[in-house]
Formats: sequence, C-alpha cells, structure tokens
Amino acid sequence: MNKQRKGATGYAIGNYTLTAVTLHWATAVIVISAAVLGIYMHELPFSPTKLRLYSYHKWMGVTVFLLALVRLAWRSFHPAPALPGNMPLWEQQAAKGAHGALYALMIAVPVAGWVMSSAHGFQTVYLGILPIPDFIGKDKELAEVLEKVHGAFSLSFMALVMLHAAAALKHHFINRDNVLRRMLGFRSLP
Ligand code: HEM
Repeated sequence: MNKQRKGATGYAIGNYTLTAVTLHWATAVIVISAAVLGIYMHELPFSPTKLRLYSYHKWMGVTVFLLALVRLAWRSFHPAPALPGNMPLWEQQAAKGAHGALYALMIAVPVAGWVMSSAHGFQTVYLGILPIPDFIGKDKELAEVLEKVHGAFSLSFMALVMLHAAAALKHHFINRDNVLRRMLGFRSLP
C-alpha cells in the first residue's frame, strides 16, 4: 500500500508500485506503436503484408485491453499516491478526470476495433492462436459506422495522451515536483 503522508515540502509522500510503473510504460509503448502502425497500415494497398500488419495491430489492441484490466485490478488494491498538496484543486480534478478517461479509452478503443473487425467479417485471432468470438455477424453498413467510431475514439485517445504527456513534462520541468519521477520508478523525495 502507498503511504499518503505529507512531507516537509508539502508534497504527498507515496510511490507507484514497481508493478504499476511497469504496466504504465508497457501500455504506453504498445499504445503508441499500435497508433503509428494503425495510421501506416491503413494507407497500404491490399496485400499479404497489409493483412499481417492488421493482425499485429489487433494483437496490440487486445494486449492493451488486457493490460488495462490488470491495471484496474491492481489499482483497486494499490491506490495511486496523492498528488502534490500545492496543486490547485481544479488541476487535481483535471488530472484524475484525464486518468479516468485514459483507462476508459484503453478499453473502448480496442473493443470498438474488435467489433468493427467482426462487422467486416474478419475474426480476431489473438497472437495467431486464440480465436476471440464474434458477437456480431458480417454487416457492411455497421462496419462503416464502427470504423468511424474506432477512428474518433483513437483520435481522442491520442490527443489525451499528448495532453497527459505534456502535463507530466510540465510537472517535471516547470513545477519541479516528483510526479514524473515517481512514475519512472524513483522513490519520492523526502
Ligand atoms: C501512451 C499512452 C499512455 C497512457 C495510456 C497513460 C495512462 C496513464 C494513466 C491511466 C495514469 C494514471 C495511473 C493511475 O493513477 O492509476 C497515468 C499516470 C501517469 N502518466 Fe501516463 N500514460 C501514457 C503515456 C505517458 C507518457 C508518454 C508520460 C510522460 C511523458 C506519462 C506520464 C505519466 C505520469 C507522470 C503519471 C503519474 C501521474 C501521477 O502521479 O498522478 N504517461 N498514465
């Protein structure tokens, strides 16, 4: 469990667990890779390479979805450390809202992609070995709608990730607090 005391600086003392840190950066790498791959593969002409890249993209999506579930389960037993005590209330609420939205999008983006793939008539086979059941059949019109939903969710996700990363860098370089350090696995300053 994280300690939630305040230090002499007024900052909350507490750390993310190594598990939370590892899950965070593993998710970040896969999310960014899946986004780059998604943009790249979309423009390719139909070919076996394109189909293979679509499979990799889908596997990354399923992995992000599973990691999000593991993170939420882990977090329910290991609460996040308190934000710096000198952070304005609106900023603390904005940070919490953004984190909640990031969790929601880590689930919504892959789910929208999976349902879209089913509507296109392509089953997702995780890592090429685990078939994920289709809950809807092939439906061209629905597939087009879901393509827009998956695209809009992904764009919102990427915009929020950029805002989130910018906020983390602002904490580190302008506020000079321990918010980024503790997500890098460093212990909080006393
Ligand atoms: C690319 C996808 C990313 C996703 C989906 C993501 C998601 C999240 C989520 C959900 C949290 C809240 C953790 C919790 O309290 O349970 C969090 C925390 C954090 N993230 Fe990210 N993140 C991403 C990338 C980044 C990047 C690129 C940076 C830094 C440049 C960053 C820096 C941080 C920091 C410093 C925290 C801790 C904030 C605090 O102490 O309250 N994240 N992230």
